[in-house]
Amino acid sequence: MKKSPSESFRSIKGTFDVLPAASSADGRAIAGSGAWRRVEQVVVEVMQRYGAREIRTPILEPTGLIARGIGQLTDIVSKEMFAFEREDTHYVLRPEVTAPVMRAYLQHHLDQERSVQKLFYIGPCFRAERPQKGRYRQFHQFGVEYIGTDNVRADAEVVTMMVDVYRALGINDLRLRVNTLGDEEARPAFKQALQSFLEPYADELSETSQRRLVENPLRILDTKNPRERELLEDAPSLIDFVSTASRDRYSALLEMLESVGIHYIEDPFLVRGLDYYTETAFELESDLLDSAQSALAGGGRYDLLATEIGAKNHTPAVGFAAGIERLFLALESAGRVPAVDESPDIFVVLVDSDGDAWATSFAHQLRSAGVSCDIDLSGRSVKAQMREANRVGARHVIVIGENERSAKTAKLKKMADGTEHEVPLSADDIRPLCIPD
Ligand code: HAM
Repeated sequence: MKKSPSESFRSIKGTFDVLPAASSADGRAIAGSGAWRRVEQVVVEVMQRYGAREIRTPILEPTGLIARGIGQLTDIVSKEMFAFEREDTHYVLRPEVTAPVMRAYLQHHLDQERSVQKLFYIGPCFRAERPQKGRYRQFHQFGVEYIGTDNVRADAEVVTMMVDVYRALGINDLRLRVNTLGDEEARPAFKQALQSFLEPYADELSETSQRRLVENPLRILDTKNPRERELLEDAPSLIDFVSTASRDRYSALLEMLESVGIHYIEDPFLVRGLDYYTETAFELESDLLDSAQSALAGGGRYDLLATEIGAKNHTPAVGFAAGIERLFLALESAGRVPAVDESPDIFVVLVDSDGDAWATSFAHQLRSAGVSCDIDLSGRSVKAQMREANRVGARHVIVIGENERSAKTAKLKKMADGTEHEVPLSADDIRPLCIPD
């Protein structure tokens, strides 16, 4: 629909602008872009310590990949995809990154480059959910996928890496829930047992759970409805359907987590909202978040995803993904949003405009020498420029007019203590004063 010229545009509900400084929208505090960059740097640093390397995949993916990969009956695929068709091709804005990473791995034969690939990512995802605190339509994930190994040590590494990221950012209020979903034989038998157990109570179930009872009974285990939770107390337990091999691998994982001091809660009701999981499943929560959206991150093993989306060979894999907005909610509650200093090293105050070309060249020399330099661009008075230098938090100010240009020296003022130094107007002389080693 056309907007009239007087009507202004706003960002779409459930999406947000990240501005240079911290801001707020719809009652949500949004950290500034510098804090985002710092957080992303920490994420990358931690992941690189594990030998993970970055992968960047497109935002647009074929709808079929996501539908097949995540599962037709999941909420994400059945209700929450931003999907469209154009010239007979079906596109979707990626709702997550695991299926796209596996697609890229298969497409580029990354198994031939390394027997185990550790691929990390940071980027936007899209889900058409009802926007609320901690739940947005465009949100950002970071995560890692270990592809090409079914070794349980990979599961332990992925969980450890996830926890390390939060610890590195000062978030220690963490609760890790873990479960085993067993192999592909365990789940159908358990599904059937759960269905038979719940069918007599079908009338007491919520509309969603009634639908799930038919289509995807495992998801009922996720319910927060008190009556349903009560019913589930006597329901068959998934662990009783799980093979000895799966149980052994699960115990091995728990032992490894203990060996690195990671506390966990075994949660037999943890099933996750995506259908590709086998064996290990986990979620990381924090009391720093509201209980409705308390999941900071989640993941697990997905040994069957590759063949589900067309791979010929069995390709075991495990990974996790975390929401960056939720990480920021936790950082805000904990008072740990990283502070970043984006103020310039020097502000050049110009007394006259006669030396415009000179000023352009002087600022360029400073910047080329690695000094961050701000300079007046609006021909303001010296007083206004000084105010601006204060506003942007410049660490030094230098005032330059005709006298300084002809003497080739000027006074450099250190704003923190007001001290002044006469300095030659050369980047080589100014740099050490602005950026001490
Ligand atoms: P997920 O649990 O759907 O898993 O999402 C991971 C994290 O993304 C959540 O724990 C949450 O922090 C964040 N998140 C999800 N939806 C939203 C939303 N609408 N608004 C804000 N944050 C959100 C996955 O996506 C899997 N791909 C994880 C994985 C990787 N499994 C194996 N490898």
